[in-house]
Amino acid sequence: MQYKRILLKLSGEALMGNRQYGIDPNRLSEYAKEIKEVVAKGIEVAIVIGGGNIFRGVAGAANGMDRVQGDHMGMLATCINGLALQSALEDEGVHTRLQTALEIKEVAEPYIKRKAIRHLEKGRVVIFGAGTGNPYFTTDTAAVLRAIEIDANAILKGTRVDGIYNVDPEKDKDAIKFETITFKDVIKKGLKVMDMTAFTLSEENKLPIIVFDMNTNGNLLKLVSGEKIGTIVDN
Ligand code: GTP
Repeated sequence: MQYKRILLKLSGEALMGNRQYGIDPNRLSEYAKEIKEVVAKGIEVAIVIGGGNIFRGVAGAANGMDRVQGDHMGMLATCINGLALQSALEDEGVHTRLQTALEIKEVAEPYIKRKAIRHLEKGRVVIFGAGTGNPYFTTDTAAVLRAIEIDANAILKGTRVDGIYNVDPEKDKDAIKFETITFKDVIKKGLKVMDMTAFTLSEENKLPIIVFDMNTNGNLLKLVSGEKIGTIVDN
């Protein structure tokens, strides 16, 4: 196996499947099955999930809502997704713990780094909810932060695109995919991988980011097994 401990970043939007809003149970259960395969290989898996399928603070602010208020709603949305993913994983027989950056003790454990690591060592999937617990930060930043804290080998950003391209592959059929690219080149070429806060945090801490297509069955397992899937951003 290429990695021992990974931080998987899933977007909230991806959970919608073909819906316009909310959670598609089929998509959720497909993700749970993919994650189960990786856990079965002995890989330690931590997950950060976004909340954009339910609410985005930035979108709220664009409509005149107070940004902090909107971001708090977004953080709660990630907890809803975390609970849904936890249920789906448990339906597959995978042991999980949900830890949240905002305390909702009756619902989930508070985030405690040492406890999270212990859970991972015991083979439990740890889902981190509520982002970083602070407004103005994205769940990508939360993913990088948690990945560094738990000493993950890499952050795997599951998207609907199979890597990083020189131009948007959904708009230009001649787009060329990078197999590997350096952090510096991503910035120089003006490519969008994550927001800059998340991206520079990753670069400074030498945490590789792998962007891959999470919606193709078997991709996650192939990736952790060392197959060239997606694009690796590294120093
Ligand atoms: P180990 O003792 O390392 O095996 O971990 P553990 O998670 O099994 O032990 P713990 O006694 O901490 O937790 C038992 C159960 O209670 C687990 O399902 C936890 O997720 C849950 N739990 C622990 N702390 C909290 C909390 O603050 N809030 C909620 N809602 N659940 C919690």
